[in-house]
Amino acid sequence: MKITMIALVGKNWELGASNELLWKIPEDMRHFRETTEGHSVLMGRKTYQSIGHALPNRTNYVLTRTDSDSIFAGTDVRLIESPVLALHEAQISGEDSFFVIGGGEVYQQFLNLALPHEILLTRVPHEAESADTFFPNLDRNGLYVETSVEKLTDEADIHTYTRIDLL
Ligand SMILES: NC(=O)c1ccc[n+]([C@@H]2O[C@H](COP(=O)([O-])OP(=O)(O)OC[C@H]3O[C@@H](n4cnc5c(N)ncnc54)[C@H](OP(=O)(O)O)[C@@H]3O)[C@@H](O)[C@H]2O)c1
Repeated sequence: MKITMIALVGKNWELGASNELLWKIPEDMRHFRETTEGHSVLMGRKTYQSIGHALPNRTNYVLTRTDSDSIFAGTDVRLIESPVLALHEAQISGEDSFFVIGGGEVYQQFLNLALPHEILLTRVPHEAESADTFFPNLDRNGLYVETSVEKLTDEADIHTYTRIDLL
């Protein structure tokens, strides 16, 4: 099963502020949907609350350590207590692609464990002073190298990072 992290980041690796996204780029939303549809997605409880619902046509795993049943009553999500358990469940259900979709806390944990095979980052050349959540700085990470860059819009490029042992 291939594990991919996917995110939209600013010039200084900004991800979000006050539990909201900083930029909404229609082309990036389409890229995200087309890339993840039909597969499993994993997110932290705060990202789930920011989106406000399960993502359609995907198996939604939500990480939480607390008894947050009231937040999820009647929703189509699988609550899960650890990243490894989510991977195990997806693997035994026959999933071939597993996407980690945020937020900052969850990306950091997957990176610390070097679990992702690939990281897809849409990068925009903007800064956001209000940002309070950041993607781990990949320039300071010796395990992942940039292997391709693809234009998405005039101002946004998709950067693919690959784990070094897979090169
Ligand atoms: N730019 C992008 O591409 C992008 C993508 C996603 C999110 N975001 C932004 O990122 C921000 C949210 O990120 P965040 O770092 O604050 O929060 P987060 O990573 O979305 O969620 C953190 C929560 O996840 C649960 N959790 C984390 N690790 C866990 C573990 N190992 N085991 C069990 N539960 C675990 C905990 O929930 P409990 O407290 O319930 O225990 C924790 O409080 C928002 O601003 C959002 O808009 C941006």
